[in-house]
Amino acid sequence: MSGVSLRALVNGYGFLGRRVARALASGKVPGVKLVAVARSTGYIHRPGGLTLEELEGDIASLEGFVEGSPISLLEDGKVDLLIELTPTNLPTGEPALTHIKTALSRGIDVVTANKAPIALAYRELTELSRSTGALLLFEGTVGGGIPLVSLRRFCLRGDEVLSIRGILNGTTNYILSRMHFEGLTFELALREAQNLGIAERDPTLDIEGYDTALKLLILANSVMGLNRRLEDVRITGISRVTADAVSLAKEAGLAVKLIGSVSPDGHLTVAPRLVKLNDPICVHGTLNAVTFRLRTAGDLTLIGEGAGEPTVTSILNDVWEVVSVRARLTGARGT
Ligand SMILES: NC(=O)c1ccc[n+]([C@@H]2O[C@H](COP(=O)([O-])OP(=O)(O)OC[C@H]3O[C@@H](n4cnc5c(N)ncnc54)[C@H](OP(=O)(O)O)[C@@H]3O)[C@@H](O)[C@H]2O)c1
Repeated sequence: MSGVSLRALVNGYGFLGRRVARALASGKVPGVKLVAVARSTGYIHRPGGLTLEELEGDIASLEGFVEGSPISLLEDGKVDLLIELTPTNLPTGEPALTHIKTALSRGIDVVTANKAPIALAYRELTELSRSTGALLLFEGTVGGGIPLVSLRRFCLRGDEVLSIRGILNGTTNYILSRMHFEGLTFELALREAQNLGIAERDPTLDIEGYDTALKLLILANSVMGLNRRLEDVRITGISRVTADAVSLAKEAGLAVKLIGSVSPDGHLTVAPRLVKLNDPICVHGTLNAVTFRLRTAGDLTLIGEGAGEPTVTSILNDVWEVVSVRARLTGARGT
């Protein structure tokens, strides 16, 4: 028993939103009641809680579906927790940025997997969160199910992260792996990834390195305490990596990987790099891998699926954390 009862809004009812909403409606996180879910066209609000049966079909066909934005639920204090899972939008970060600001400024806790607002407005949002006491948790934004931000928060407090280096985008890693192992050209590997649903129809954000840059920015600011912006990241994507370059690298015992790195002097770079095959971050397929170089503990590398279903684990863990903190603050017994 957590001793608290938080009313949650899941904003964005797509791949992640559906899974998170179902998990909450089935009571996976004690202390949280799912009272609202929203998609682009409107939302459904049930103060008594949404049931699993109601989440089976299209929420737009449920009785009481309201057309328009669910922002009034935040403005009118009808929810205690916003789980923001709308699409990542560059360059504005909207509408998620406005949703998150609206929630935080009213003391409503926020959990999100949406990279854009956290990458574009990290300082502003963390200051807002500190000023109102609302929590802002975003483990799902980077590395899918790999606990990177919380690893720093909970397990590495006695150390210092000096630099970061990693593969942060599963789509480009899949393409480069197919070029490495099967000798495919970039164009063929991309088409294959699109046919398998690994790459988007418009793959620009992934292949031109922007997705990696957003994630790197989130890690640099949250894990290393820097204050960098997107324009501070030097970005080169993989669209000009040739089959010949990959094949020559392979002959030399190397692989071409899209690497995001934060150097010890705070420079952020995203670029295709040659990586030794026995380097711990040299993972293949859709895997992600990140090495934190720590002042005392040395190198620590984490490997895992960087997107898809594992991201739900990160989001639900953040929701658990909100319940734990709220339970402690209200003097109730923690979970
Ligand atoms: N999928 C992953 O593996 C993954 C991993 C890490 C991070 N992320 C990030 O997590 C977020 C959600 O990802 P996803 O894969 O679940 O996305 P998705 O499948 O594209 O779903 C997005 C949902 O947001 C809704 N939406 C769009 N605009 C909205 C608005 N203004 N208000 C309310 N809802 C709105 C869409 O509504 P309709 O249903 O009406 O279209 C849809 O339900 C994205 O920012 C993504 O970058 C995803």
